[in-house]
Amino acid sequence: RPRYTGLIDKYRDRLPVHDDTRVIGLGEGNTPLIRLNNIPAELGRDVDIYVKYEGLNPTGSFKDRGMTMAVTQAVNEGSKAIICASTGNTSASAAAYAARAGITPFVIIPDGKIAMGKMAQAMIEGAVVIQIQGNFDEGMRLVKEVANEAPVTIVNSINPYRLQGQKTAAFEIVEELERAPDYHCLPVGNAGNITAHWIGYSEMAASSPKDATDACSFCQGHCKFAGGASVGNRPKMVGYQAAGSAPFLRGAYVDDPDTVATAIRIGHPQSWDMAWTVSQESGGWFDECADAEILDAQSLLARREGIFCEPASAASLAGALRDIQNGRIEDGSTIVCTLTGHGLKDPDTAIQQAEERGGRMHRVPAELGAVKEAILGN
Ligand code: F0G
Repeated sequence: RPRYTGLIDKYRDRLPVHDDTRVIGLGEGNTPLIRLNNIPAELGRDVDIYVKYEGLNPTGSFKDRGMTMAVTQAVNEGSKAIICASTGNTSASAAAYAARAGITPFVIIPDGKIAMGKMAQAMIEGAVVIQIQGNFDEGMRLVKEVANEAPVTIVNSINPYRLQGQKTAAFEIVEELERAPDYHCLPVGNAGNITAHWIGYSEMAASSPKDATDACSFCQGHCKFAGGASVGNRPKMVGYQAAGSAPFLRGAYVDDPDTVATAIRIGHPQSWDMAWTVSQESGGWFDECADAEILDAQSLLARREGIFCEPASAASLAGALRDIQNGRIEDGSTIVCTLTGHGLKDPDTAIQQAEERGGRMHRVPAELGAVKEAILGN
């Protein structure tokens, strides 16, 4: 078998690349789909819950799937610089792929409220970091404006190549389960990722590229494997937002979003219309999770299953657990929750949470007696 070299090489026939395209890749994709053992047993419900651990991508988030495609396209079009607004993960990913390509990454990040790990990545990878006195939504507006005046390619998910790369997560899930799940739960910010997954599932469900004559409603002509209308098994797409940043639940933009899940601290989602279409076509829904629920789910996953994700990612599990318990997600269902980012992205929140939950750190002299006491005392 050929060495795994990344999702563009693997899914070349379903992505907008040519034989002579110079691929900018870091081996992204091919992330584990882990079946939860302990949490479903404790719930006492007959459900199969899988987590798609996207935190194991090269820069620790799902953004790498989109970034390999967006930067590949930018470089092949001759672009010398890319720009994004970011709550952290996009900037880390953009910086890495720009470094790989030898072009300049500019990243606009909100004032404060960006997790330490993400900042570290963007800085060491050589991004020009522009911290604005404003939030993500204001950063996004500035990115769009400045891209009209300066020679930079936008690599936020409004760049259609991003969604093309990200749709491959759905391909991997269907290949591994040999079917689509009944429910796919994701944390939602700009709603690019939920849209990308729906594109991916729709393409997988189309019986063949030739049969799929309807143009995909989202890809703006970039799908080689257009589909979406005619097809079999696709999941209900369920999007969870943080309660302080939940425009989809409110049905209106939120001007001053706030949440501990800083990755999804977004009040003006860029993929607003597409996300509503996904929700309607798939028969899914949007809901919100309180910060406390998100942090509970993050800790539960870490303690019961040994899987460490960042707070925003835990919104998918927090919401799914609630909807399993209240019966909105029926017994017998197969559920996939995307864990969008690695827990190491935000060490400060993790340490604080662990301490508040009675996490034990013993400071003792370097002596046998003291160490023994600490062990026997637990
Ligand atoms: N989870 C994480 C960890 C994220 O970083 C993001 C988005 C999302 C979920 C939401 O995905 O926007 O496609 O609905 N982060 C962006 C960033 C905004 O700048 O890193 P979405």
